[in-house]
Amino acid sequence: MSALSGNAAATPAVALRGVHATYTERGLRVEALHDVNLTVARGEFVSVIGPSGCGKSTMLNLIAGIDRPSAGEIAVDGRSAIGHTGLVAHMPQRDLLLPWRTTLQNAVLGPELRGEPDREARALAQLDRFGLEGFADAYPHMLSGGMRQRAAMLRTILLDRDTLLLDEPFGALDALTRGEMQEWLLGIWTELARTVLFVTHDVEEAIFLSDRVYVMSRRGTMKLEVAIDLPRPREREMTTSPSFVEAKRTLLRSLLAETQR
Ligand SMILES: Nc1ncnc2c1ncn2[C@@H]1O[C@H](COP(=O)(O)OP(=O)(O)OP(=O)(O)O)[C@@H](O)[C@H]1O
Ligand SMILES: [Mg+2]
Repeated sequence: MSALSGNAAATPAVALRGVHATYTERGLRVEALHDVNLTVARGEFVSVIGPSGCGKSTMLNLIAGIDRPSAGEIAVDGRSAIGHTGLVAHMPQRDLLLPWRTTLQNAVLGPELRGEPDREARALAQLDRFGLEGFADAYPHMLSGGMRQRAAMLRTILLDRDTLLLDEPFGALDALTRGEMQEWLLGIWTELARTVLFVTHDVEEAIFLSDRVYVMSRRGTMKLEVAIDLPRPREREMTTSPSFVEAKRTLLRSLLAETQR
């Protein structure tokens, strides 16, 4: 942050203004996003929670430039991101490791597409930190669920973008592994000073990781934004602190109102 000039520091990493997304499938019109407003400041960790099908992945796809909104503005670092891929590093909801490539070959996909000569050395230097030492030449089916997610995360980090969009990266993991991965991700985030926009179904995960949490409604709008008042570094004991419990109550109430509708 310190290297940024005053103006640049004030420009959000991600900004959505009045964003709508509409799909037409076999004549049926689905409005996946309705008037979405969201900002993520540089270096911030922001989560989005919401019921299944409310448009979370759609929103990340729009920011990543894979899809286009039907209305509204989307900016990454102050520039329009509509239809521009490559401005952010996007880790999609499904772990998309290529089964015929090893861990290392999967990790270097981004640098390979850019034709970087030292890509394998760069990836190898990171294997330790990603808990993949000794698995450079293993294929995805030989890795555990947590290892696959870390390999996909390494590939995302090696895209060398300031902003990471992570779509339920720990959704398929057991509770213990998930907790370990959350702490590991916070370590990486602190060390690499990236901006993160994180999608999850898990309220506690969102609070534990984030500076702010948005709740999306079933109708594809942002209905609530909660600032998380917990010091960093985060520690597991904080999950019983009054501010954690208060944030959890507020978010759960908002989320339950959606699922009971
Ligand atoms: N390419 C598409 N074509 C048609 N409809 C789509 C497309 N992408 C998403 N949708 C629709 O948009 C809505 C939002 O889907 P999206 O995948 O963004 O939800 P989500 O919040 O990520 O759900 P989940 O929590 O289950 O991952 C759904 O009704 C879905 O069917
Ligand atoms: Mg999704």
